[in-house]
Amino acid sequence: MNILLIGSGGREHALGWKINQSKKIKKLFFAPGNPGTAEIGINLNANVNDFQKIKKLVVENKINMVVVGPEVPLVEGIHDFFANDPDLKSIKVVGPKKAGAKLEGSKNFAKDFMLRNSIPTAKYFTVSSNNLTEGINFLKTLVSPYVLKADGLAAGKGVLIIDSLEEAENSLRKMLAGQFGDASNKVVIEEFLSGVEVSVFVITDGKSYKILPEAKDYKRIGEGDTGLNTGGMGAVSPVPFVNAEFMDKVETQIIQTTISGLQKEQIEYTGFIFFGLINVKGNPYVIEYNVRMGDPETEAVILRIKSDFVDLLEGAANGNLEEKKIEFDEQSVASVMLVSGGYPENYEKEKVISGTENTPNSIIFHAGTKKVGNNIVTNGGRVIAISSFGKTINDALKTSYKNAEVIEFDKKYFRKDLGFDL
Ligand code: AMP
Ligand code: GLY
Repeated sequence: MNILLIGSGGREHALGWKINQSKKIKKLFFAPGNPGTAEIGINLNANVNDFQKIKKLVVENKINMVVVGPEVPLVEGIHDFFANDPDLKSIKVVGPKKAGAKLEGSKNFAKDFMLRNSIPTAKYFTVSSNNLTEGINFLKTLVSPYVLKADGLAAGKGVLIIDSLEEAENSLRKMLAGQFGDASNKVVIEEFLSGVEVSVFVITDGKSYKILPEAKDYKRIGEGDTGLNTGGMGAVSPVPFVNAEFMDKVETQIIQTTISGLQKEQIEYTGFIFFGLINVKGNPYVIEYNVRMGDPETEAVILRIKSDFVDLLEGAANGNLEEKKIEFDEQSVASVMLVSGGYPENYEKEKVISGTENTPNSIIFHAGTKKVGNNIVTNGGRVIAISSFGKTINDALKTSYKNAEVIEFDKKYFRKDLGFDL
């Protein structure tokens, strides 16, 4: 079959790499893709939110299945757009419709959903300009630090964690006044949970689900988890503290209750659910839902899936996921992100990248790159993910780090301490 992957980052390169190994794939397309995806498929020129353009390309290229990488087109309703268009109705879309995508698109919706379905999560209160006084009263019942979240999508920047109550009150007012545009018309105030985070993923057809390998990503720019938040500096899988006992709690208290909650609320769901979890003294709590795979977690997780990935995607899209099998590779995987110096603040682009062909035992996924003439150059903060297998996480990291020294571009930076906390 012909598959179109929507997106242009390391996640999409990694998903495409895996899809390309399937016996079921005829032609693989990306929209818009990047120079890395161009090596394994055909890049089509369309913005991820330009549904009309995507429609044209899907029809022209006889695409049978669309897999949506990032959250924005899902929240904007790309799946609904396909389902409601007579020319596109028969094309499978992996990714939820608008109603399901609200699990990521609205933090308030996600929290209310968890409350209704008894899914463990931090205590919360949602504030808008109508109930600011109640919101401030709720804030006063919490202990520092205070967690404030813009309700809507804010490109990963909408969560503030603040030590002083006074500052939290001020920030709350600023957010409601439009600090994150419409995304912070509503703000979710949350109790702070203390623990180690882990990302758990499932693929689902809305009834049945398969758990994918779990991962831990490293969000801060600095070593020892210090400094500013980034899109992710790397990821490892598996995560040692996720033992059978913990995973059993995740499955019964969180995954099953989420899937049955979707069914109860008649929300059809095809695609991935990413559970951002925190381990509080051995008990998992949901920090957030995402309605897509994680980035950079995918660049690690995908290597550990042995089964035919297209078969799993078909299971999700056709509603017969229950019949499918998922097998994991028992090896560990580490993915190290090379970023542009200065990121996540200002950084320069268009630095020539060299050495990607001299990286034995690693798989290179392009994140922010572009082609200029015969050169591949940097085109974003996160530039390249280097993924490697190993017997242990440390072995996997060693291989990735060796190759991180081989790939060169001006002002390259990467964290050298991934896995330090495990
Ligand atoms: P989110 O976008 O909801 O994942 O939040 C971004 C980051 O903020 C998370 O990855 C956590 O590190 C942190 N965070 C969010 N909510 C909480 C919470 N209730 N308690 C502690 N940390 C949190
Ligand atoms: N790695 C976190 C995310 O994809 O949102």
